Amino acid sequence: AASSIPREPGLDHTRALLREGYRYMPNRFAAHGTDIFATRLMFQSAICVYGESAARMFYTPGRFTRKLALPPNALLLLQDLGSVVMRDGEAHHRRKEMFMALMAPDSVQRLMELSAAQWRSRFAQWQGMSRIVLHEEAQAVLCRAACEWAGVPLDERTAVPRTREFAAMIDGAGTAGPRNWRGLMLRRHTERWARALIEEVRAGKLQPPAGSALAVMAGHEDSDGRLLDVKVAAVELINVLRPTVAVARFIVFGALAMHEHPEMRAILARGDAEFMEMFAQEVRRYYPFIPAVGGRALQAFDWSGHHFRAGDWVLLDLYGTNHDARLWRDPEAFRPERFRGWRSSGFDLIPQGAGDPHQGHRCPGEDITVGLLKTALCLLAGEIDYDVPQQDLSVPLSRMPTLPASGFVISRIRARR
Ligand code: HEM
Repeated sequence: AASSIPREPGLDHTRALLREGYRYMPNRFAAHGTDIFATRLMFQSAICVYGESAARMFYTPGRFTRKLALPPNALLLLQDLGSVVMRDGEAHHRRKEMFMALMAPDSVQRLMELSAAQWRSRFAQWQGMSRIVLHEEAQAVLCRAACEWAGVPLDERTAVPRTREFAAMIDGAGTAGPRNWRGLMLRRHTERWARALIEEVRAGKLQPPAGSALAVMAGHEDSDGRLLDVKVAAVELINVLRPTVAVARFIVFGALAMHEHPEMRAILARGDAEFMEMFAQEVRRYYPFIPAVGGRALQAFDWSGHHFRAGDWVLLDLYGTNHDARLWRDPEAFRPERFRGWRSSGFDLIPQGAGDPHQGHRCPGEDITVGLLKTALCLLAGEIDYDVPQQDLSVPLSRMPTLPASGFVISRIRARR
């Protein structure tokens, strides 16, 4: 029965969530000694779960909808109304395949090459500068590479505001208040720009390469055989560009890990491909990014001794699952070696969702994310040397999404060898 699981007493716990951030759910799973508890967030009942079994439950195809499942502000910045994530069943599947089609290996490879070229041109510029903030530079690199890959024209004049807009949307995703409003304001700008691009393609004034994201979004037909609404196509284009820029966070965390483990940086600098893969996976496991995903149950079901009713709001703790001691030995240690010979069950390492991306809402961009992270770290370790001056590198777990406070400043940048 519903009463058998631990329940946070009181009317609302949103303040505790904002105070404790990524630790809010793990703290309570630990306190209760369970993988499930009930609470109230934004004045609504929520059931929080974590772990591999919870991920299997949550990602059972067709079990949850993302409609009315996220805090509205976060929703508008991260995953848009009318977009793929808000669809269910066959309508979702058809739209999702449009994204999966962009992730063919040769397409991913091309994005890696474009990003490497952008990094190298930045490296050349940095050598004349006293210091740079890696997070800002990584966002600039990724915005330019993503647009080029997507067939989106971007000149030096538009690259800077576009980068700033994507950055603000990502940064404002987890909050209510000024950071969020800024994101919402800038996003109207970005949407207008993206709509104009779709319209230019449809009018034949712009011809992006076949198979590029812009060409695919402009030409995609939904299940009713009609082209996507311009507004929806624009939103889906942004849904490729913006999260690609967000990979900058993982790159900064990777640079932080290299700084804290110089012996690992030395292995990466030698170009050890196997270690690079393990290191990138450990960055995605260890560092906090998207704290949780939410869904509303479409039908009643039972799990872990609890009866879920249709309409229940359930939050799966991604960060908590990536730090679950039942899955990861010594989870609070940064240890790439844990991934040697590792095979995922699909429900264990879940920074970008779980299960089969073709069947559910798991992120379609994981290959891109891992590829961009490896490309960046390989170049940062192998092609340049730099100093990491005194700065605040702490990663506040109360801020969502978080980052090293300084954004990771490096100085005295010089070419290696
Ligand atoms: C969905 C995380 C990068 C495109 C998601 C979800 C998460 C996530 C947690 C939601 C899963 C769910 O609701 O069950 C991340 C993180 C990234 C990242 C941490 C690192 C930067 C990317 C990239 C792309 C992308 C590079 C570019 C194509 C999407 C799309 C969805 C999605 C389109 C919606 C999928 C659906 O509803 O079926 N991502 N993502 N993401 N992501 Fe990512």
